[in-house]
Parts: sequence; C-alpha cells; structure tokens
Amino acid sequence: MANDKLVIAADHGGIDLKNELVSRLRDTGYDVTDLGTHNTESVNYPDYAFDAATKVASGEFPRGILICGTGIGMSIAANKVHGVYCAKVNSEEEGRLAAEHNHANMLALGGRTTDPDTAWKAVHAWLTTEPGAGRHEQRVGLIKAKDC
Ligand code: RB5
Repeated sequence: MANDKLVIAADHGGIDLKNELVSRLRDTGYDVTDLGTHNTESVNYPDYAFDAATKVASGEFPRGILICGTGIGMSIAANKVHGVYCAKVNSEEEGRLAAEHNHANMLALGGRTTDPDTAWKAVHAWLTTEPGAGRHEQRVGLIKAKDC
C-alpha cells in the first residue's frame, strides 16, 4: 500500500532512536527509506530535515519522520518547506492528535528527550489515526490557504 511508505532522517542526536524506530517500523510492515545519518559524527540537522521534507513535499513519500536531540530543530527546519506540516510530539496522545487535529505529514521526535517506547507509541498513533474532518479539516485549511 502506497501509504505504508515512509522516509526517515536524523542527526547524531537522534540516530539511536531513528535506528530503533526503523527496526520497529519495518517489523510492522512499513516500507522505510532511511536517509541517515548513519554514524555518531556531528552533523547539521537542517540538512537532514530538508532532505526528507523535500521528498514529502514532492509527493515521493506521503509521510516522514525526523529525529534530532529534541525534535525542535528538525520541526522548525521541515516547516520551512512548502507543503510540509511537521509536528513535534512527545507522547502517544500528541501523536494521535497530530494526525486527527493537525493532519501533520511529518513527525519530529527528540532522541534525547523521548524514550523509545513512548516514541514508538507516538509514531504508531500518528500512523494509524485518520485525519479528522469537519472543524479540523476547516482549521487545517486555514493554514494551507495562508501564503506568507
Ligand atoms: C545537536 O546537538 C542538537 O542541537 C540537535 O540534535 C537538536 O536537538 C536541535 O534542535
């Protein structure tokens, strides 16, 4: 199924959590493309955020996951890419709401701030929750319509 395709990227602060999530996602049946980083050498998180975010914006991937130390830098960088709606989450509830209320097409997580089990629950909730219609769709539409 095309919606099972995911792109994922991390900096050195997120590599351990990325590797854990890649493993769990593949075990669950997702088709995951891992853009790195692949070692603990210090790298610049915006490079990885833009690499993954442009692939989501182009439609090559329907959804993507970004991980740095906190998830904050990755989310800020990704949200500069037109067509990307990246939510930084830290719980299962936030993962669910990022899909239902915000229709986020990218998720950002903190490798130094979120434990692997909580991160997995957040990712799984985001991936398996349908985007909400009605007021949620209308509010997301306000964001999509704004060009600034
Ligand atoms: C890198 O040390 C750190 O700044 C980065 O992983 C991230 O947390 C940025 O938001």
